[in-house]
This record gives sequence, structure tokens and C-alpha cells, in this order.
Amino acid sequence: MILLLGATGYVGKEFEKVLTLLGLNFKAVSRSQLNYTSAIELKHYLKSLRPDFIINAAGFTGKPNVDACELQKEETIQGNVYFPKMLAEVCAELGIPWGHVSSGCIFSGCFVNQNGTWIAEKNMNQETIRKIANTEPHRLKGFDESFQPNFSFKDGPCSYYSGTKAWGEDVIKGVGEHYVWRLRIPFNEINNSRNYLTKIQTYAKVYDNLNSLSHLEDFVRACIACWVKHVPYGTYNVTNPGFVSTRQVVEMITKILKPKREFIFWESDEEFYRLGAKALRSNCILDSSKLLKAGVPMRTVEDALVDSLRHWRDA
Ligand SMILES: NC(=O)c1ccc[n+]([C@@H]2O[C@H](COP(=O)([O-])OP(=O)(O)OC[C@H]3O[C@@H](n4cnc5c(N)ncnc54)[C@H](OP(=O)(O)O)[C@@H]3O)[C@@H](O)[C@H]2O)c1
Repeated sequence: MILLLGATGYVGKEFEKVLTLLGLNFKAVSRSQLNYTSAIELKHYLKSLRPDFIINAAGFTGKPNVDACELQKEETIQGNVYFPKMLAEVCAELGIPWGHVSSGCIFSGCFVNQNGTWIAEKNMNQETIRKIANTEPHRLKGFDESFQPNFSFKDGPCSYYSGTKAWGEDVIKGVGEHYVWRLRIPFNEINNSRNYLTKIQTYAKVYDNLNSLSHLEDFVRACIACWVKHVPYGTYNVTNPGFVSTRQVVEMITKILKPKREFIFWESDEEFYRLGAKALRSNCILDSSKLLKAGVPMRTVEDALVDSLRHWRDA
């Protein structure tokens, strides 16, 4: 049996849906039923339930966005660092393997091929990089799992949220058997304030940058496949292969959904950070080839975006 933590959340609900669709035996618990952030209560519960695997979709993201984490530091650190640390230790003690939903937002930038050498570049909104992205995208590649987070407290600057997500990965490293699944800007076909495609359609002004993204159901199916297919434990970038600019996503929305509105973009990073955002935002390209090589397929980000927009609907 699989135990699902954080099932009331945006990501947790998708796990609940897919586990049900796949007919897998699972149990979902919420903190309102069991204070799973207490080591004593969790251990007692696990000893009686004896799950084969645990999925941790619980964490603190900040509402309506990560700016809230700058003000709710205690909840952020508790949900993203102390809680996974405790869960890792309890699972190691009881010999229960588990999977942790982390985030790709612990990276900034990509690698750029300059005369045959791959150079890490944190800021992708430079004219030269954006030009390469448009004309020679093969000259850009993402961070794979061998790289240390570079949008973190150790290698900043970063947002408080991202700092705690990177720290959360650090504190569980080497403790028991687990997967770290990095989710990056989830989207799907269902209109929801947490969906990236809804966010873009409702922002007064859109921020343009390059990013890898995760289709939410593809992400969840890939995570579950790791466990079902006995993929080796470890860290996986669970993103749809490739990257897109926000402008490309807006073009797809305009073409497929034909909205009545015009999309206006922030003129520069300077304007966006002066008027639109408090915390620094991560923008990054991730390399998901480790997951694909492990036998877990993911369709390209373009295919997943087009499919979501073609099937766009209200919840
Ligand atoms: N949504 C995104 O854009 C995104 C992107 C990348 C990564 N992630 C990661 O995905 C995970 C789930 O995110 P989400 O968007 O589904 O968040 P969410 O909608 O806020 O749900 C998270 C769930 O975690 C539990 N929770 C909340 N605060 C907690 C705390 N301080 N300690 C322990 N549990 C807490 C709650 O479940 P109970 O009912 O049990 O209280 C809550 O429903 C997080 O680790 C997040 O960092 C999310």
C-alpha cells in the first residue's frame, strides 16, 4: 500500500486522481486527520499501517505565490526543511522507501554553448541568450541532476521559498531510500488559479523568460512509474523535455484559445521586480534525460502545452 501525504494540495490531489485511475492501493491522509509533522504521531501511525511506499506531496508554497514565503518564513522552513528531514529519518528507521516532491526552482539559468564549451549562465534574459534561444536552441542545455542548485541559500541570491526547497533536498540526502522528484511550473488543461496556463491568462502583465515546465499529470504519472518500475532511487528532474519562452506560450494560447484580451509584457526585469514581484523568481532550463534513460517517458513540452490548450476546460 502507498501512503500519500499532502493529498489536499494542488499536486497531492493529482496524485490521488492518478493513483485511483491506476487502481493502486493507497491511503491519503491530511494533517487534519493525523499530525504527520509530529515524528511520534507519524511513527506510531506508520508502525500500524505498514505502507510499502510513501509519497510526500506536502510542503509550503506560499499563497497566492512565493512572495508570501518571504513573510511566512517559519511555515516555509517547517514545511520544506524540518518536515522532510523528519520524514526521511522516520522512513529510514522503519525501512520504508518514499518519494519527495521537490522543485526545479532551485536553479537559475542554463548552459550556453560558446565555441564548443558549455558555459553556465544564470541570467537568460540577456539579448544574446534570447537570440540563441530563438535561432539556435540546440546551443542551450539544462542542468542535469549532477549539478548543485544555484538558486539556493548556498549559491544565491534566491527567494526564501527556493532556498528552503534546496535545503530540503540537502537535509534528506543519504538518509534512507527515496526519490527526489523535481516539479517545475505545473500546468494542465484545467482552468485553476494554480495552473501556469491560467496564471498567464489572468496576469495584468506577463513576465517573459525561458523555462522548462512540468505537465502536472505527466509529472505525477512519471513519479508513480519510478516506484512501480523499480527505477533506482535518487534525484530526477521530472520536466517535459525542452524549454519554452513565456512569449511562445502566449502565442500558443492566442492561436488555440483565441482569447479576447491582448497580452501585455513587463518591459524589463527591472520593471518586473520594481512593480510586479517581491521575491526573485527562478527561471531555468532543466535536463530530464536521466528520467527518460531510466525508462520513464515524457512527451516534449511543446506537445504537452498544445494538448493542454486543445483540451482546455473549467474544473
Ligand atoms: N504548485 C507548484 O507550482 C509547485 C512547483 C514545484 C514544486 N512544488 C512542490 O510541490 C509540493 C506540493 O505543492 P502544492 O502546490 O500542492 O502545495 P499546496 O496546494 O499548498 O498543498 C500542500 C499540502 O501540504 C500540506 N502542508 C501545507 N503546509 C504544510 C506544512 N507547513 N507542513 C507540512 N505540510 C504542509 C497541506 O496538506 P494537509 O491537508 O495535509 O495539511 C497542503 O494541502 C510542495 O512541496 C511544493 O514545494 C509545487
